[in-house]
Amino acid sequence: MKPVKVGICGLGTVGGGTYNVLTTNAQNIARRAGREIIVAQIGARRPNPNCDTTGVEVTADIFDVARNPDIDIVVELIGGYDVARELVLLAIENGKHVVTANKALIAEHGEEIFAAAERQGVSVMYEAGVAGGIPIIKALREGLAANRINWLAGIINGTGNFILTEMRDKGRDFADVLKEAQELGYAEADPTFDVEGIDAAHKLTILASIAYGIPLQFSRCYTEGISKITRDDVEYAEELGYRIKHLGVSCQTEKGIDLRVHPTLIPEDRPIAKVDGVLNAVMVNGNAVGDTLYVGAGAGAGPTASAVVADIVDLARTLEADAANRVNHLAYNVIEDDKVLSIEEVETAYYLRIQAQDKTGVLASVATILSERGINIEAIIQKEPSETEELAQIIILTHRVMEKTMNGALEAISELDSTVGDITRIRVEHLA
Ligand code: HSE
Repeated sequence: MKPVKVGICGLGTVGGGTYNVLTTNAQNIARRAGREIIVAQIGARRPNPNCDTTGVEVTADIFDVARNPDIDIVVELIGGYDVARELVLLAIENGKHVVTANKALIAEHGEEIFAAAERQGVSVMYEAGVAGGIPIIKALREGLAANRINWLAGIINGTGNFILTEMRDKGRDFADVLKEAQELGYAEADPTFDVEGIDAAHKLTILASIAYGIPLQFSRCYTEGISKITRDDVEYAEELGYRIKHLGVSCQTEKGIDLRVHPTLIPEDRPIAKVDGVLNAVMVNGNAVGDTLYVGAGAGAGPTASAVVADIVDLARTLEADAANRVNHLAYNVIEDDKVLSIEEVETAYYLRIQAQDKTGVLASVATILSERGINIEAIIQKEPSETEELAQIIILTHRVMEKTMNGALEAISELDSTVGDITRIRVEHLA
């Protein structure tokens, strides 16, 4: 069979990794795909010192790759929104299939891109966009196709998990660990995307769409970062038998679908609570299969290239199949009458850390406010003021309650004369 010709745009960490995997594993890949896969052109402004591209045409203009009539598959690995969107749409217009690792592009412009691809009868693949080397898109879109997905929850940002792990295990400084993640090629070009949960929200948006067959709705994803988590919160959570992870959570409930990224307390005996470092993990609960868990490296050259190349192999296998018989871009014929819940409508349990003056009756007042709103307390710890701190710390774990109700309670607690400063609120998920 005729070889498949691939054009790679972007030769950074992921582009370089993809080139190296395609060339190093060429024989094995050809056996799997049933035909040779050749890198026929690279679009990159700078060489990658880790790649020997001798004999491959390299152009500084990535749009040349999208226009090249010899190229069957354009691999978009430049990242970002505008230029990437233009490149992908041009490639589609020229009848090329596209593979991308760009979750921001898919989460925010996926609808437009998929519509263009469907008009042209080509496919856009994006396995590498979510959870790096873990084949979670394939698992959800194909492996779990028999199920109604009830919920999914994942550690889907390697940089954030790496930072939380190093801070907890080694007491390292936030900025120092972030710098290392950038040097290792894990972090986004703008690392606030990692730390503030935007990258995870892009990924969760994609996962929810293919889990439930709903349109991509990044703007409706509630997003909260990890920058306010203190060493004390980590310790108190452990004292209560929990770990803090930055989680993307989405549940399909009778009221609607929730879509949220925030720091989360997870019981320490849940396997996902032990997923550390740059590893990602996604739990999916389906009504036939029950709980499933997928773990692997969520970032870095090799793992991300593994997912990019798997998409290229999939495309090579189906290149001759007609468009109507390929897997849908979002797994389903997407429904429009979905209901993504606002964060106020979401129900979770909570960890609260309240700072208060060490006076008689403070704890009773806090408990009264919670009980008046029907908020059930599961556990409570009070830490007396230390020699260096004047304030007592009250740590409370609650049962599940609607966010709107909790907001009202926190407002009332903040207004008490004896409480001081902001109340820390971390959502708790038992994932069972
Ligand atoms: N910045 C991302 C992460 C890269 O740390 O997970 C992979 O998407």
